Amino acid sequence: MPRALDPAEPVLSDQGTPYSPRYDDVYHSVEGGLAQARHVFLGGNGLPQAWQGREQFVIVETGFGQGLNFLATWQAWRDDPCRCARLHFVSIEKHPFTREGLAALHADLEELALFAQQLQAAWPLALPGLHRLVFDGGAVVLTLALGDVQALLPRLAVGADAFYLDGFAPARNADMWDPVVMKRLARLARPGATLATYTAARFVRRGLQAAGFEVSKAPGFGSKRDMTVARVPAERRRRHAPPLPGAWTRRHAIVVGAGLAGCAVTERLAARGWRVTLIDAHDGPARGTSAHRAAAMHPHLSPDDSVLSRLSRAGNLHALRAWQALAEAGHPVGWHGCGVLQVGQDDEDTALQQRALAELGLPPEYVRWMSAQQAADEHGATVARGGLWFPQGGWVAPPDVCRAQLAMAGAAVETRFGCRIASLRRTDDGWQVFDEAGRPVAEAPVLVLANAHHASGLLPLRHLPIRRVRGQLTTLEPGDVARLGRWPDCVVTGSGYLLPRDGGGSARIGSSYEPDEGPLVERAGTHADNLRRLSMLLPDRSAALDGLDPAALHGYVGVRSVSHNRLPWVGQVADEAECERRAASLRGAHLRDLPRVPGLYVALAFASRGLTWAALAGELLASRIEGEPLPIESDLADALDPARLLLRALRHGQHGGAGQDAERDAEPDAERDAERDAERDAGQGAERPGQALSG
Ligand SMILES: Cc1cc2nc3c(=O)[nH]c(=O)nc-3n(C[C@H](O)[C@H](O)[C@H](O)COP(=O)(O)OP(=O)(O)OC[C@H]3O[C@@H](n4cnc5c(N)ncnc54)[C@H](O)[C@@H]3O)c2cc1C
Ligand SMILES: C[S@@+](CC[C@H](N)C(=O)[O-])C[C@H]1O[C@@H](n2cnc3c(N)ncnc32)[C@H](O)[C@@H]1O
Repeated sequence: MPRALDPAEPVLSDQGTPYSPRYDDVYHSVEGGLAQARHVFLGGNGLPQAWQGREQFVIVETGFGQGLNFLATWQAWRDDPCRCARLHFVSIEKHPFTREGLAALHADLEELALFAQQLQAAWPLALPGLHRLVFDGGAVVLTLALGDVQALLPRLAVGADAFYLDGFAPARNADMWDPVVMKRLARLARPGATLATYTAARFVRRGLQAAGFEVSKAPGFGSKRDMTVARVPAERRRRHAPPLPGAWTRRHAIVVGAGLAGCAVTERLAARGWRVTLIDAHDGPARGTSAHRAAAMHPHLSPDDSVLSRLSRAGNLHALRAWQALAEAGHPVGWHGCGVLQVGQDDEDTALQQRALAELGLPPEYVRWMSAQQAADEHGATVARGGLWFPQGGWVAPPDVCRAQLAMAGAAVETRFGCRIASLRRTDDGWQVFDEAGRPVAEAPVLVLANAHHASGLLPLRHLPIRRVRGQLTTLEPGDVARLGRWPDCVVTGSGYLLPRDGGGSARIGSSYEPDEGPLVERAGTHADNLRRLSMLLPDRSAALDGLDPAALHGYVGVRSVSHNRLPWVGQVADEAECERRAASLRGAHLRDLPRVPGLYVALAFASRGLTWAALAGELLASRIEGEPLPIESDLADALDPARLLLRALRHGQHGGAGQDAERDAEPDAERDAERDAERDAGQGAERPGQALSG
């Protein structure tokens, strides 16, 4: 995958049509872009009729450009009284415009101006990967896949109903029309899917035919005599069929656990019209690990843009957009986007940070270098060395996020607090859950376990190991903070971390990372460790910190749920018994081949990055449940799949043994890298094995 993206410049041709010097071609017909979009792409795919009366309709486009086809499609959808309930538009673009570039090109789109302004407002930074933008209250979903078509197409987890092929002229942009591209598009096609493109080039038609499309010519737009339309036969035998829309008897889900994980899943399902019964043993939301009032968020960065780096980038960007949408709907989460400074812990760490910056070339609005001098001058962070500056990072209180999500879900959610689920039963139509007295509590087609490490008490999860890791934060009272001098106005992480002062003037520092042993109560020794971490982070405060008595300090103590490689478990649970029965035939299997337990999903093991994972996990699960396009690339979704360890065990013939053994013996490089990256992660980061000072 390419790392940095090379944005396009908003240039006009002599006739005033958007033009690409890179490809020496115009973005649309000189005879009118909007008219071309309507004739070729909408008309060629039989739209709007094709989406009418449908619950969900998915369009995949190659070449987003200035988004004219998207805007025309959105407008046609809005104007159609018989429109589908949810329109997904997935578009691949290697050279995105900047927001300003887009605005310049959109300046004279009179008819589409209102749509264009919303697109510009939501426009993402030029960062590689998938970006999900949501419009019209969630009914129109644009998934922008930024990167090269050849690299991204195989990574799209999408079932498509229609295709728009809109690369530049085949002679000038051969990559976009390669027969391999056509094969990969055909793999995404749902039965009966249609395709349209402005070109009638013979090699494009041949490529489509070879990929299994039934191809014909249709009258072209403007001066073009012909264009190409195509269709995938309704019946086709395929090993991996693309996802179809979910076919649930009732849209009702039970979610067990009302922390960051469960509230995010609840909100995402409710947004799709589901009724949710949300159950928690505590007497309200966010009273377990998510109870603390000080959680920081920033992405991980590594020179090789590892799985963890890509996933955490997707998670952070997704969370920020989701919280923005909550705020716009009147439910702000109280996010403080103050920026995060991640200080290297030693020379090697600093060199690695600088290498990552140089090799990735990501936009400075996402990450850049900040010297120690700048950190002190601009933010009061008197650190010993410079570090990575994440301008979009910040902090929030997890309970406020949960509250906003439940308020957004509104009447769609029925909460059952103070209710501990003790057992589960599969029914003909889904799942039933029972309390400790054996009384049935709820019954629904879908059950989502979002109850952290407690899930292992409800399911025999041999291949879903979850470690319990205790952590303690320390709160510094306003008077103590004032005595320490100018307190940083940003989050600082490195050998421990600190958060800026909250509205009442208190500040938090953290944190320990230790086995979960003994009662879950605060320990004075761990507060002392947190003070030592702070004095390493801000060495000039050491003397002042000596004046604080650890025994008089208070804070928060909780348990992190941590998987074998620190990436969460998000997805549908595999049928372990059935997999073991069919072990011989599943030895060369892919995750998609494994039998799953109908209606049973998990969102677990968020470790030290609950904020990074929760919103993305909610969207990922809801998308899977509905058979919608996934919001991240398939290799990233696979990295979170709750069947990933089971698959590894099957591949190594160890399915009958304990999951932990299989994991130790057969960990592939990608996951080992993720683990190493996580350990190096000084973000949430002082929270890493072997870093606890004592306690
Ligand atoms: C010290 C510390 C510092 C941290 N700092 C950060 C940070 O800076 N940034 C960050 O992003 N993350 C941070 N985290 C991690 C973050 O807090 C967690 O990842 C997140 O809170 C986990 O959310 P959850 O919903 O999975 O679990 P929880 O919040 O624990 O929710 C699970 C819920 O399930 C309920 N439950 C369990 N079993 C049952 C049952 N049988 N029936 C009914 N209900 C049940 C529980 O009551 C609980 O409410 C930190 C964690 C700790 C401990
Ligand atoms: C004709 S324009 C698309 C116009 C667009 N559909 C619209 O409605 O505005 C073609 C687009 O394909 C993009 N492109 C070219 N080669 C690509 C590649 N290899 N991978 C992804 N996108 C590519 C170009 O950057 C350009 O934006």
